[in-house]
Amino acid sequence: MTEIQQLKQQLQKQEKLASLGMLSAGIAHEIQNPLNFVINFSKMSDHLLSDLTAIVEEHADLLPEADREDLSDIVDGLKENMEQIKENGERAVSIIQSILLISRGKENEHIPSDICHIVKEYVRLSYHAMRANCPGFNVTLHESYQEGMPLVEVIPQDLSRAVLNVMNNACYAVWEKSQTATDSYSPEINISVAMQDNQLVISIADNGKGMDDEVKQRLFENFFTTKPIGQGTGLGMGITRDIIENKHGGKMTFTSTLGEGTTFTFTIPMSKDK
Ligand SMILES: Nc1ncnc2c1ncn2[C@@H]1O[C@H](COP(=O)(O)OP(=O)(O)OP(=O)(O)O)[C@@H](O)[C@H]1O
Ligand SMILES: [Mg+2]
Repeated sequence: MTEIQQLKQQLQKQEKLASLGMLSAGIAHEIQNPLNFVINFSKMSDHLLSDLTAIVEEHADLLPEADREDLSDIVDGLKENMEQIKENGERAVSIIQSILLISRGKENEHIPSDICHIVKEYVRLSYHAMRANCPGFNVTLHESYQEGMPLVEVIPQDLSRAVLNVMNNACYAVWEKSQTATDSYSPEINISVAMQDNQLVISIADNGKGMDDEVKQRLFENFFTTKPIGQGTGLGMGITRDIIENKHGGKMTFTSTLGEGTTFTFTIPMSKDK
């Protein structure tokens, strides 16, 4: 009976997550439009400023020296502000695109993707979700992205989900450890994306609470979770392994030491014959 109860709760949570997913895709989509306005108007204002500068320069001799300098400082300041608005607007668009990717991508379609960009975005999403949900959560992220990586054919919405699942667990593990650790404990997560021997290697290493033998054994079991009821479904790792190994023909491995931390590694072949 308790097992049925638990399964029921898990189903309810899944259902809630599914509708939340729908909702956030809708919101992301709606926010995209006003953001485009922000970006486009800041570009237009930048052009107007250039026109203004040209006119002022043409009649510069009509202005007293001091005013000329003030004017030029003000225009420079405005240009800088426009650039900031545009840059941050574009950053917001890129975040929204990543959210849409998860809910909108065609099922099982492999497309050439910028892996570093995907990983970066999802590391951030996970970090901010955790900060919003867990009081006192903090962690230092060390990220290393190999430069000049070629595009890799992956199913972007699935790969991003895999990264999110592992990142969420890593954040949770350092957060849990920080609840009981001494003050000198400094939560850290190392993320790296690189090419090795024609394979894509993504690794996420935390210095969190680590796993004991039982957890290691049961890690990929569906519904296995050590999180309190309502916090974890115990599906994350099973789904992630399916994504990496079955959908991408790769390998998902991990090492973990109780009390010291855990490292997950995805290895995905670059060649198309997956
Ligand atoms: N980085 C990690 N450090 C320590 N324990 C981990 C780590 N990743 C996973 N685990 C252990 O494995 C269990 C199963 O992980 P899994 O992601 O499948 O489920 P979950 O995180 O509990 O729930 P959810 O389905 O919401 O992800 C976790 O409850 C946790 O005990
Ligand atoms: Mg998880």
